[in-house]
Amino acid sequence: MDLHLDGKTALVTGGSAGIGRAVALALVAEGCRVVVVGRDEARLAAMRAEVGADKLVTVVADLATSAGADKVAKTTIAQVGVPDILVNSAGSSQGGLFWTIDDTVWDESLNLKLMGTIRMLRAIVPLMMERRSGNVVTIVGNSGRQPGARFLPGSAANAALLAVTKGLADEVAASGVVINAISPGPTRTDRWTGLMAKAASASSRTIADVEATHVAAIPNGRLSEPEEIARYVVFLCSPLATAATGTSLTIDGGATRSLA
Ligand SMILES: NC(=O)c1ccc[n+]([C@@H]2O[C@H](COP(=O)([O-])OP(=O)(O)OC[C@H]3O[C@@H](n4cnc5c(N)ncnc54)[C@H](OP(=O)(O)O)[C@@H]3O)[C@@H](O)[C@H]2O)c1
Repeated sequence: MDLHLDGKTALVTGGSAGIGRAVALALVAEGCRVVVVGRDEARLAAMRAEVGADKLVTVVADLATSAGADKVAKTTIAQVGVPDILVNSAGSSQGGLFWTIDDTVWDESLNLKLMGTIRMLRAIVPLMMERRSGNVVTIVGNSGRQPGARFLPGSAANAALLAVTKGLADEVAASGVVINAISPGPTRTDRWTGLMAKAASASSRTIADVEATHVAAIPNGRLSEPEEIARYVVFLCSPLATAATGTSLTIDGGATRSLA
């Protein structure tokens, strides 16, 4: 199927690693010019060299700050204009036993994943509305609907993002801008590996043992790969995908136990 993405422009936050990187590369493969955001300049430079500066623009910014979000919006508009597509994938919530999680961990989770996304929505969506078109996809997480007892900062940020996705999608629906969420389950990225290592060291178990416990709760019996998640995201980025808005598509091998 031709997704009509050739020649479109996209902004992908957290696009230098994991799910965001897979989305950025998939959008480039569809013919998009993509702006990718992260904090690690060397990693962004390596990706730009790999893909080609004509197809990939990189911005070094910390989306946990308003200044970082402003820089991303200004650089994107200067380099590619108002993007046709915004994918929010920057996030790095930590887990742990509730009593041991202090304010810093809660602040970091909410400030990057929730507020970082809100800052980008506030900067880009009004410009998409003026143009009367745009596709927004936020990478949320299945813990937004089924909170993990040992992953409450991330679960709370994800639940809040589902609310923002639905409410803002309603607000802008008449303008032609669609806003949706993808909620992955466990997906093999650096972030996932780090979470498993932390959980293993906190419980004196091996990483393989901790991961096996998670995999046992996934009906298809495996982690997802970032490229698999990216394929669903790319469809929602297509100008053909404008009938669904305010929805969240859960991609977790069947782990979420509900009918809708
Ligand atoms: N992997 C999973 O199992 C899973 C499951 C459900 C939901 N998710 C969600 O999916 C999203 C992506 O996760 P992932 O596993 O792909 O993570 P990842 O592999 O760690 O990649 C995270 C990306 O975000 C960037 N980033 C992190 N902090 C940033 C900041 N303060 N400002 C700007 N960029 C920042 C990173 O680059 P720098 O480090 O260079 O800044 C990197 O490009 C997250 O929101 C996560 O909660 C992941």
